[in-house]
Amino acid sequence: MAYVALARKYRPQTFSDVSGQEIIARTLTNAINKDRIHHAYLFTGPRGVGKTSTARILAKAMVCNDGPTATPCGVCDHCRMVSDNNHPDVHEIDAATHNSVDDIRELNETAEFAPTQARAKVFVLDEVHMLSSQAWNALLKLLEEPPEHIRFIFATTEAEKILPTVLSRCQRFDFRSIDIDDIVARLREVCAGEDIAIDDSVLFRIARAADGGMRDAQTMLDQLMAIADGELTEDDVNLLLAAARGDDILAIAQALIDGNPQLCIERLDNLAAAGISSNTFVQQLLDHFRQLLLLQTCGPDSSAVKRLGMVTDTAQQQAKALPMERLLRICQIFIGAQQSIRGGVDPHLQLEMCFVRIAGLATTIELDNLIRQLQRLEQQSGGASRHPLQGR
Ligand SMILES: Nc1ncnc2c1ncn2[C@@H]1O[C@H](COP(=O)(O)OP(=O)(O)OP(=O)(O)O)[C@@H](O)[C@H]1O
Ligand SMILES: [Mg+2]
Ligand SMILES: [Zn+2]
Repeated sequence: MAYVALARKYRPQTFSDVSGQEIIARTLTNAINKDRIHHAYLFTGPRGVGKTSTARILAKAMVCNDGPTATPCGVCDHCRMVSDNNHPDVHEIDAATHNSVDDIRELNETAEFAPTQARAKVFVLDEVHMLSSQAWNALLKLLEEPPEHIRFIFATTEAEKILPTVLSRCQRFDFRSIDIDDIVARLREVCAGEDIAIDDSVLFRIARAADGGMRDAQTMLDQLMAIADGELTEDDVNLLLAAARGDDILAIAQALIDGNPQLCIERLDNLAAAGISSNTFVQQLLDHFRQLLLLQTCGPDSSAVKRLGMVTDTAQQQAKALPMERLLRICQIFIGAQQSIRGGVDPHLQLEMCFVRIAGLATTIELDNLIRQLQRLEQQSGGASRHPLQGR
């Protein structure tokens, strides 16, 4: 059988199949059930979170043999033609490439005629922020007073570029980044469908790296299947992302907690020699300490904690071992390092400096507290006496 990318093969086909966008799915379902389908929708949100998929499902919902229905059958001629993108009354237009006035004039002409096979004519305009302003002007009249049978679904990643006159004529839906748990659950289904064995910890790693994007997660899984032979392991993910192993992150974190920068720097050298990307590595370390911070604050079951990856026993122990103030400072140090790296400072050098500073934090914080105590004492005594750390 011909190869089809996982992200396409597993495109959701029903509203209930769309992960992580429950409110949108529910609102659209209700609108259809109550026969209150608006004439224009605007779907906006980050890349690969289900805008086009939902637009196609909505189109099917309108034209399905059983329709209008919130649960299009998926097998009638209408549904199939929408899936194959060749329904004569459902026009999916890539506004990135068809953005001229002439393109919209053509659309206007098509819209004048009644649908040929379905009860509605649906225009799905993707990447709609790319339409020229003349093209929008040509579309506005139709959008304002559309014939009864016309429906528009606009999709864009950049809603802020859409004119207010257009926005005010559409029902707007903001698609969210997808939670790590929802991505993992979907990846599990894909793996089951593909008959591949894969550990949850690996799925978490992929989902974390995808950063809320379902398409990215599935594309990564695709790439992994290409590089791995047999079972997919964490090592394969690390190879793909040029990332350090979870064990290495834990070990370095432990050495930092123990105040041993030398060990961290040696490990860093080994990792760099093994081709680990320093940028990814800083992000991994920041993620780890952020997880410890949230573990302390919210506990291991919180979604904020899980968003950063699987919670290990070692991580829980490390969270307990670190005072909050130290954790906060560690995170600040890594954030500062990321900024410096973006500004052009050598990442390797930046990391070495981070390690030295973090390993010394316990002492620095103690000294800071001591100074603060002394200052308080001085204030209490009305500044009469000078203490030894001041006034030199
Ligand atoms: N919410 C979701 N639930 C399940 N799968 C999803 C979801 N979002 C995206 N996907 C997967 O990613 C692929 C691309 O999704 P889709 O085309 O709907 O994204 P999009 O939001 O339109 O992205 P873009 O802004 O890049 O056009 C789908 O084929 C599907 O496999
Ligand atoms: Mg899209
Ligand atoms: Zn159907």
